[in-house]
Amino acid sequence: MNICVIGTGYVGLVSGTCFSEIGNKVTCIDLDEEKIERLKQGIIPIYEPGLKELVLKNIEEERLHFSTNLAEGMKDAEVVIIAVGTPQAPSGEANLEYVENVAVSIGENLNGYKVIVTKSTVPVGTGQRVKSIISEYSHGKYEFDVASNPEFLREGSAVYDTMNMDRAVIGVESKRAEEVLTKLHEPFNTEVVVTNVETSEMIKYASNAFLATKISFINEIANLSEHFGADVIKVAEGMGLDKRIGKHFLQAGIGYGGSCFPKDTSALIHIGREVGEDLSILKAVEEVNGKQRMRIADKVNEIYPDLEGKKLAVLGLAFKPNTDDMRYAPSIDLIPYFKNKGAEVIAYDPIAYENAAKEIEGLQYSTDLYETIKDSDAVIILTEWDEVKKMDLSKVKELVNEPIIIDGRNIYKLDDMKNSGFYYASIGRPTIK
Ligand code: UDX
Repeated sequence: MNICVIGTGYVGLVSGTCFSEIGNKVTCIDLDEEKIERLKQGIIPIYEPGLKELVLKNIEEERLHFSTNLAEGMKDAEVVIIAVGTPQAPSGEANLEYVENVAVSIGENLNGYKVIVTKSTVPVGTGQRVKSIISEYSHGKYEFDVASNPEFLREGSAVYDTMNMDRAVIGVESKRAEEVLTKLHEPFNTEVVVTNVETSEMIKYASNAFLATKISFINEIANLSEHFGADVIKVAEGMGLDKRIGKHFLQAGIGYGGSCFPKDTSALIHIGREVGEDLSILKAVEEVNGKQRMRIADKVNEIYPDLEGKKLAVLGLAFKPNTDDMRYAPSIDLIPYFKNKGAEVIAYDPIAYENAAKEIEGLQYSTDLYETIKDSDAVIILTEWDEVKKMDLSKVKELVNEPIIIDGRNIYKLDDMKNSGFYYASIGRPTIK
């Protein structure tokens, strides 16, 4: 199949590359000339394991192309995929400016029947809006179908998630579009849910909102567990074995960040408000998440009511491991908080330090884990990087000023920490003193 993907962000670049990997001819379009020139040479603008190799392979095998010329990309395409950003507007709703601009350009360049797919996460009803814009700008000259095909990939495992998707959701208005998109997904060998455009748009928001709900729920249970000496990891394990609950997304910690959960829960609440539906569960999910990162600050304050002159080693800046993404990362709030309280803060992150330096004023960082830890009065874990999980605790103990670890991601087993000589506080588990 010949596919044109518009937008080379996370979703566009990963899905375009994966669609080429399964044998399609894909042209990825972006307005940013420099980005396109770099992509042609296999220089990837984001950190995503496995992506560079796959891009280079498919460029080499002439299935994957990059261009700024939409007309050229669309010319022979049967499927045109909209994968541009839908950032959060100050009101909490999704900003559809980019999607609408792309719809105008698609209308202007339409030259025959095509299935126009929205992959960007968009409010329910956007498919119809895209349809009317394309109709207007193509002057009704050609037939086309609009469709919704949301993306469920996670940053850090985006290629794996796309190649091994749990399901494909296809929202269509015609049999013809259904056939095209079902065929496109055949090589993925996955369950395909076919529905209408609005339902498909709703599935994407509902999925992300539900996962965010699971996280806030377990975080509240974690906070409660701390009062009774219960261990939230065991609570989650015990709950998760019930197939109706499932074990995933029940890891308590300092809450969710990233580009999707905060933005999508907020957008869904906004969508509800517009039609007079008060989504009170989701409002609580947001509230719990907003407070959760400060649990770490409370645990530090418990040991050091006065942080003046204390040195804190913060391990992890990115919102989660295997990404350089800093969007809604807990470190953005916590590091300035500690500094305002008079602490000296040095942070470690293997990948995200450059992006973090743009977000956190006066950030002091090192890419050497043990250098960061040296002479610290407390080690604070904010991201569960493998390097942090595997660090040599006896070496850490020798290097630090005080053997104190505050773990926002519950990465160590309590049994391992019991006789380690560390004061070890985590989330939803008894503190080892
Ligand atoms: C998420 C969805 O998983 C994906 O399907 C969607 O397409 C985009 O949003 P992503 O944001 O990349 O993906 O990361 P994910 O691994 O889902 O983690 C999101 C946040 O939740 C992270 O901050 C993570 O630390 C947190 N999290 C996740 C928890 O706190 N506990 C968990 O059990 C799982």
